[in-house]
Amino acid sequence: MTKQDTASWVEKDKKQLHPVYHPKSHVNPLVVERGEGVWLYTTDGQKILDGMAGLWNVNVGYGREELAKAAYDQMKDLAFTSNFVGMTNLPSIRLADKLAGFAYEGLNTTFFTSGGSEANDSAFKTARYYWKRMGKPGKYKVIARKSAYHGVTLAATFATGLEKYQTMFGPAMDGFVHIPAPNPYRFEGELKAGETVGQAAARALEEAILREGADTIAAFIAEPVMSVGGVIVPPDDYFPLVRAICDKYEVLLIADEVITGFGRTGQWFALKHWNIKPDILSFAKAITSGYAPLGGIQLSDEIRETMESAAESEAYMHGYTYSGHAMACAVGNKNLELMEKENYPARAKELGKRLIEGLKTLSEFSFVGDVRGLGLLCGVEIVSDKVSKTADGAMAMKIFKAAQDRGLRTRPVMNTLAFSPPLSINEEEVDEIVKRLGAAMDSMSAIGDHV
Ligand SMILES: Cc1ncc(COP(=O)(O)O)c(C=O)c1O
Repeated sequence: MTKQDTASWVEKDKKQLHPVYHPKSHVNPLVVERGEGVWLYTTDGQKILDGMAGLWNVNVGYGREELAKAAYDQMKDLAFTSNFVGMTNLPSIRLADKLAGFAYEGLNTTFFTSGGSEANDSAFKTARYYWKRMGKPGKYKVIARKSAYHGVTLAATFATGLEKYQTMFGPAMDGFVHIPAPNPYRFEGELKAGETVGQAAARALEEAILREGADTIAAFIAEPVMSVGGVIVPPDDYFPLVRAICDKYEVLLIADEVITGFGRTGQWFALKHWNIKPDILSFAKAITSGYAPLGGIQLSDEIRETMESAAESEAYMHGYTYSGHAMACAVGNKNLELMEKENYPARAKELGKRLIEGLKTLSEFSFVGDVRGLGLLCGVEIVSDKVSKTADGAMAMKIFKAAQDRGLRTRPVMNTLAFSPPLSINEEEVDEIVKRLGAAMDSMSAIGDHV
């Protein structure tokens, strides 16, 4: 294709409304035509290393024939059938069976959605359902963290702790309460003498429960590693304390593992790093490595039992047309098979170490405030001053653009550049991320910014 073709595609693209859209931010989009491994190819001839695996989800890399074939074979046999009212299909049965106990012991029941926002909405409704069945209908609120991202359905929007996703969609939904994130680099809560950030952030949860009244709180939702909010890795003492507080006050723990699930952090699921398990797990994205839209929740056996014993008038009246979509589940089954065969959690652990070590060599730039990550989920926080840690989102955006000019796709999340490449990445490609980012940072000095 020629440059002219690309201009014409870009013009036609204006008929499409893009996610998180502003006309000023959607100029000259990359028109991507093809992908292979970690590489994307655009219509105007660029070859780009996708340091984000699409939207943190293409774990097995692009162009996997096995997944194309799984979709083709299933579509030929049965692309879709209703999963409602007395019908089911083989791929969804197989996938639910495979997932039973796969993420966490005791989470044996799966409800399928088409993505992560629907998964979180389903989690909130399930938490409310559970407490009604338990005779505690007053427990309906959800505690979430500032800087959290949980998606864009109305409920997920107001569970999210990032104001910019909410400003134009208010008034806020009732029933969501936010507490400070366990951010070791810039903790925004109150830190008492002798307290660790993990302890202070967990105390904020307990205080919120007491302030609101434990008899009003249905659940606490948390991403094990916060991603869209700036790639925030919690301190090790945080989640065990959170689990204990949830148990003490009868609050369900919802783990939003839409990004951290399926190997990304070096474990199949990320709360394993801290040896705890949730009551409800939200998943999406890498369940199919992005080859088909699919998500879901997994429920503890205790929650499942409340459904088994419900009267007919108390049925779980919740479901999507595409819950248990046959083709999407067939792709999910094949994708899981590939990830197990190619041992992705171990790859993420090993190559993640290499990536973080590489990114840390860039700390000498005066605008690199912090480098952090877990597995192949990493962030480089950009500041205008290392001592005051003043966030510099504009500089992060400049580096993002300079990196893209050098054939590297990252994503500025707040003032942090995120990296979440396909887990199929090899050592050389990891080093290439560091090299290209370094070159982009170097170019900042040429335009008068600090080195
Ligand atoms: C942690 C988390 N939860 C939920 C979502 C929403 O998922 P989806 O965009 O599939 O609705 C995302 C999307 O990035 C996410 O990162």
